[in-house]
Amino acid sequence: MIHILFIVCSLLTFSANAGVQDFCVADLKGPDTPAGYICKPAAKVTVDDFVSVGLRFSGNTSNIIKAAVTPAFVEQFPGVNGLGISIARLDLAVGGVVPMHTHPGASELLLVTQGFITAGFISSANSVYVKTLQKGDIMLFPQGLLHFQVNAGGVSSVAYASFSSATPGLQILDFALFANNLPSKLVEGTTFLDDATVKKLKAVLGGTG
Ligand SMILES: *[C@@H]1O[C@H](CO)[C@@H](O)[C@H](O)[C@H]1NC(C)=O
Repeated sequence: MIHILFIVCSLLTFSANAGVQDFCVADLKGPDTPAGYICKPAAKVTVDDFVSVGLRFSGNTSNIIKAAVTPAFVEQFPGVNGLGISIARLDLAVGGVVPMHTHPGASELLLVTQGFITAGFISSANSVYVKTLQKGDIMLFPQGLLHFQVNAGGVSSVAYASFSSATPGLQILDFALFANNLPSKLVEGTTFLDDATVKKLKAVLGGTG
C-alpha cells in the first residue's frame, strides 16, 4: 500500500514538475515570439477561444486572383497558440488561382469540399507533383515547398487547409517578385525576364521601381 502511494505521489510530482499545461490561449496583446504568444490567464479563457465561426462564410473572390484565403491562424484563433496546428478556408471562383507560394513554417493538408481543384508542389529537386482533386480528396504539401492551387472546373470550389503550425506564414512568389519596390533591373537580372514583362507585372500587381 505504502509502495503504491509512493509511486502515485512520485508520478504526481513528476507531472507537476514537467509543467505541462492543457493549453496556452494566446494573449494577442503580448509579444509574438518564435515560441508563440504568452498565455492568457486561465481564468479569462472561455470556450470561444477554442471555437471559430469565421470559416462558415465564403471569402470575397472579387480580386485579381479570383480567390480568397480565410485563415484561422493564431491571430484569428488564439486557442491554437503553441499547439502546432491551424486551419484556413480556400474559396476559388471560376478561373481562380492561388499563385505559387510557400508556408515557411508548416506542412499543409488540403481537403476539397466542393468543386475541382488542380493542386501541385515543386520539390527541392524541382520535381513536379500535381493532381486534380475533387470533393473528399486530400493532398499534402510538405513544409516550405512552393505549391499552388487553381480552380479546375466550371464551378466555384472550396477547400480547407490544415497546417502543422499556429503560424504557418505565407509568401506568394508573384507578389515577392512583382508587388514591391525591388528595382526592375534586379528582378530582370534574377529572373531572366525582359524589362517589358517585369514592368507589366509590376503594374498589374502593384509594384514600383
Ligand atoms: C468584395 O471585394 C470587392 C473588391 O474589393 C468589393 O468591391 C466588394 O464590395 C466586396 N464584396 C463584399 C460582399 O464584401
